[in-house]
Amino acid sequence: MTRRHRLPLPAMAAVLLAACQPSSPASDTGPAKSASTPTAPASPASVAKPTAPTPATAFTPPPESAIPEGPFGDMVREGRELFVHTAEKAPAYVGNGLTCANCHLDAGRQPNSAPLWGAYGMYPAYRSKNKHVNSFGERLQGCFKYSMNGKAPPLDSHEMLALETYAYWMASGAPIGVKLDGAGYPKQGFKPPQPPDYARGKAVFQRDCALCHGSDGQGQKVAGRYVFPPLWGPDSFNWGAGMHQLDNAAAFIKANMPLSRGNTLSDQDAWDVAMYMDAHERPQDPRFKGDLAKTRKDFHDTPMSLYGTTVNGHLLGSQPAKR
Ligand code: HEC
Ligand code: HEC
Repeated sequence: MTRRHRLPLPAMAAVLLAACQPSSPASDTGPAKSASTPTAPASPASVAKPTAPTPATAFTPPPESAIPEGPFGDMVREGRELFVHTAEKAPAYVGNGLTCANCHLDAGRQPNSAPLWGAYGMYPAYRSKNKHVNSFGERLQGCFKYSMNGKAPPLDSHEMLALETYAYWMASGAPIGVKLDGAGYPKQGFKPPQPPDYARGKAVFQRDCALCHGSDGQGQKVAGRYVFPPLWGPDSFNWGAGMHQLDNAAAFIKANMPLSRGNTLSDQDAWDVAMYMDAHERPQDPRFKGDLAKTRKDFHDTPMSLYGTTVNGHLLGSQPAKR
């Protein structure tokens, strides 16, 4: 496996990148080629409405070709650049090898990968994670702190303004306070048929993920830049990130991975491989103050978090990855 993916790497990366053109940062120019395919009122899961007070609503964001000329459009473009080339554009705030667009696919447009157009009109919102009402800016700050293992840009910073402008523009025409079809991840009612299993997850990983993300999960670089992002280890999201929770990871993976072949894994495979991924060490939760058990109790008190539990003989969080 290792040998297979190492030998032809440059060639393979080129082929894969070509195949994944829509969501690769390379597709900087031109009107949103990719937006056309995935915007159909997507999964049956998103139609379920038992707990939602408002029914799901279809929405299509404006194409990139519609970004206007002038200072406002310039700010939209700047936000997009930040979103897609995060470490290059905001080095002071990024502490790992990821970009925003690695998880919010197609530069934040792809339904079912927490698209920006599905998020913008849902804030301010109460979040149980920090137990108060969060502005949209504060929500962005959270992804810097945890998903990017970095520092949150100040709310009045230029970076924040650019990202907010990009999100606001992408949500042009969307209703406020309405859960749009394809917003967030398709988590509702998405349960594993059997409890997720590490050994089965490892087999799924080797079969369906290692080719791109590396057999060690550390991603792959070309010319010093990740072309396939790391799933764990020092350059990945930290223990406080949403993706470390099994339900988020399983739903994201089911809908979006393997890249460009979303919704091909069985539900069980998606949960198993999510567990395998989230049972590996990654950077420490920034809220950790020296006591793993207390950090688990305070911030990870849910079966969806493996932090502070022992999996495969290892106490997760006890040897966090460092750069
Ligand atoms: C490691 C993956 C990952 C990375 C990298 C990442 N995010 Fe997120 N983001 C998530 C997850 C997981 C959620 C929660 C989604 C959910 O609960 O539906 C989220 C949620 C969000 C939301 C709220 C979405 C909603 O529908 O409420 C916004 C906005 C957001 N991220 C912006 C960003 C920005 C800006 C960056 C880069 C600075 C970024 N994210 C980087 C995984 C990531
Ligand atoms: C064809 C190559 C390919 C395959 C196969 C693939 N991925 Fe990915 N994956 C990517 C790319 C590329 C990204 C970043 C997308 C972007 O930036 O547009 C990504 C992003 C991710 C992310 C969010 C970013 C991060 O590093 O945490 C996760 C999680 C993920 N993949 C998990 C998986 C899992 C699990 C599998 C196997 C079921 C898988 N992927 C298979 C190419 C692939």
